[in-house]
Amino acid sequence: MSDLDLVIAGGTVVTAADSYAADIGIKDGRIAQIGTGLEGAERIDAAGLLVLPGGIDAHVHLDQPTADGTVMADGFASGTRSAAAGGNTTVLPFVLQIKGQSLRTCVEDYRRKAEGNCHTDVAFHLIVSDPTPQVLGQELPALVRDGYTSFKVFMTYDDLVLNDAQLLDVFEVARRERALVMVHAEGHDAIKHLTRRLEAGGHTAPYYHAEAHAQIAEREATHRAISHAQLIDVPIVIVHVSGREPMEQVQWARARGLKVFAETCPQYITLTAEDLQGLNMDFEGAKYVCSPPPRDADSQAAIWQGLRDGTFDIFSSDHCPFRFEGEASKDNPRARTSFKWVPNGIPGVETRLPILFSEGVGKGRISLQRFVALTSTNPARLYGLYPQKGSIAIGADADLTLWDPQMTRQISQTELNHGCDYTPYEGMEITGWPVRTILRGQTIAMAGNPTGVELGRELSRDVSDVYADSV
Ligand code: URP
Ligand code: ZN
Ligand code: ZN
Repeated sequence: MSDLDLVIAGGTVVTAADSYAADIGIKDGRIAQIGTGLEGAERIDAAGLLVLPGGIDAHVHLDQPTADGTVMADGFASGTRSAAAGGNTTVLPFVLQIKGQSLRTCVEDYRRKAEGNCHTDVAFHLIVSDPTPQVLGQELPALVRDGYTSFKVFMTYDDLVLNDAQLLDVFEVARRERALVMVHAEGHDAIKHLTRRLEAGGHTAPYYHAEAHAQIAEREATHRAISHAQLIDVPIVIVHVSGREPMEQVQWARARGLKVFAETCPQYITLTAEDLQGLNMDFEGAKYVCSPPPRDADSQAAIWQGLRDGTFDIFSSDHCPFRFEGEASKDNPRARTSFKWVPNGIPGVETRLPILFSEGVGKGRISLQRFVALTSTNPARLYGLYPQKGSIAIGADADLTLWDPQMTRQISQTELNHGCDYTPYEGMEITGWPVRTILRGQTIAMAGNPTGVELGRELSRDVSDVYADSV
């Protein structure tokens, strides 16, 4: 008699490298056997289903305070419930350092907020907004050694922007400590200049956010970040690349052998700046305000090409949820006076995988292997979680998503589990949905409904595979 706890039987196992028919045997939360005819104490019939490594969403914002007092619609409980329902087993949220605060204190605050509330595993990135000598010399190195091996820096936003000297300082620390810097690349001064000009012309509706955050400003900042990384000789990740022009900068860097990695997101393959017009340049457009903003059909085509040809390493949601209506929401009196006050960010942790599967695999734009690589295996490798996460292999955590490739359903706010009161993808026709999400051998969501078990743990991370020359 086998001593397996659970067997996932009769499915098609899909990894970033191949697909094959096999049973998966699970013992003590890990994958113990892969074969045929396996038996265990419990059995899940996966006939007709794909068995994928659990989704890893490497870019989500949960329970972050904002400069203007607007409140995020998801904390760790609702955000990770939503993630689980959408086929994810791990998410990587951010610890935001508010200027003047100790980064270590911020980490402890977020750990407290997360503890006991998570339905998926979590691993934190840091946001460095105040690179003081104390932060650069002591806190960051110590935090990297404690497993916080990636940090994000911003080239825009009044309360977060770092100047070039500060960026170079952070890059130096990353190189020394073998950490990975994620860069929000948009040129602050260009955005401010365009904003002033638009406001002076009376152009204050949410749509003008897309004009102020011009693709040229993103292209320029992407090139500047790449140049700084080249000077310091440090790998970086350009996050949420929105269009053709910044993407070409990543390709420019790669052609020169630089270690520049790239992320894109669902909004850049499904939405355009026109969505920010709302019904008739009205405030509905605020539902789509995020930075960088969605671009145009040409950029969507370019992003698809980049997803296919390997320019993009990872596909994340950049889930940054604000309610549209009610107190401390997108629709607030100040935001009505100018697009520049509309909280930036849209929800998407629950719809990331279905959108890429349906639009990508279903429409023949990317292979099933590429889907798994972009959404699970590569994020695990890039951020130091592999092979515990992101793979289906003996010894790996039994984090699995059972996927029905034929199930057809529209995206509808009424069926989502996030804390937002809308989805930017309302009504989108999707073929291919997760039907069961399994974290370390335990079911955390079934048929789009979280099962209510708070099993998630905080993960400590290793240095990125990029320092081992293997990504
Ligand atoms: O608009 C966005 N993306 N808000 C989230 C913060 C960020 O820059 O990722
Ligand atoms: Zn960003
Ligand atoms: Zn973000």
